[in-house]
Amino acid sequence: NVMKNISGLKEMEKQLEHALGVSKAVIVSGDSDQYALVKNEIGLACVREIERCLDAENIIAVTGGSTLASVAAMMHPLKKAHQELLFVSARGGLGEKAENQANTICAKMAEKAEGHYHLLHVPDQLSDESYHSLMEEPSIHRVLQLVHSASIIVHGIGSARTMAIRRHSGEEVLRQVDTEHAVAEAFGYFFDQTGRVIHKVQTIGLQWEDLFGARSVIAVAGGKSKAEAIKAYFKRGPDSVLVTDEGAAQEILKNF
Ligand code: G3H
Repeated sequence: NVMKNISGLKEMEKQLEHALGVSKAVIVSGDSDQYALVKNEIGLACVREIERCLDAENIIAVTGGSTLASVAAMMHPLKKAHQELLFVSARGGLGEKAENQANTICAKMAEKAEGHYHLLHVPDQLSDESYHSLMEEPSIHRVLQLVHSASIIVHGIGSARTMAIRRHSGEEVLRQVDTEHAVAEAFGYFFDQTGRVIHKVQTIGLQWEDLFGARSVIAVAGGKSKAEAIKAYFKRGPDSVLVTDEGAAQEILKNF
């Protein structure tokens, strides 16, 4: 029975790769919306993918969220790491709980992987004025250089409305999410069903352009409730490895 289950998931991974146009999909069994433990399985599967992507130069940029927190929870020393690992926060401080902040997650991952870390000590959402002055701050500039040159990027995907509310995005953004039918959020960008960016947080962290080019991108998101968001994000998203669960995968494949 276990073997049958595994081959079923393997088949589903192939279908998902085809449906979303990603180079690799990894599906863990279960639905993290229903069972919290499934999120840890997603976390562990993501750690394995990070390990697989390791190369000579290893700068790993990470975002925030509860799924990324599970990746950090499951992190361990990585066998394939020939050189020291450097973890870097791809986002500044958000209106989130401490354990969901990119900085907390980044430091924890580095500690558990026995690597080093650089944090982004700025609020994520910035006014024009602070944006420009912070960009000139040498210590911040250094961290941003690391984010832009990361060899691996690991990020979450969320449902637009859920994320706008959880991050206290404000009335105007919420209205825009509704009127422009945003369904997905990832690293401060909001996307509609066709994958078009309808709003972007003014942040000095990870930018859309950083996701393209010669680097590994690992998107990690599961649960049936995120199916629509995952589908929308990959309409125009970069080539990625997607780590997800059966709950999300089944729902995505349902109408394909
Ligand atoms: O950008 C999306 C969020 O990182 C997803 O957060 O992992 O808590 O659902 P979550």
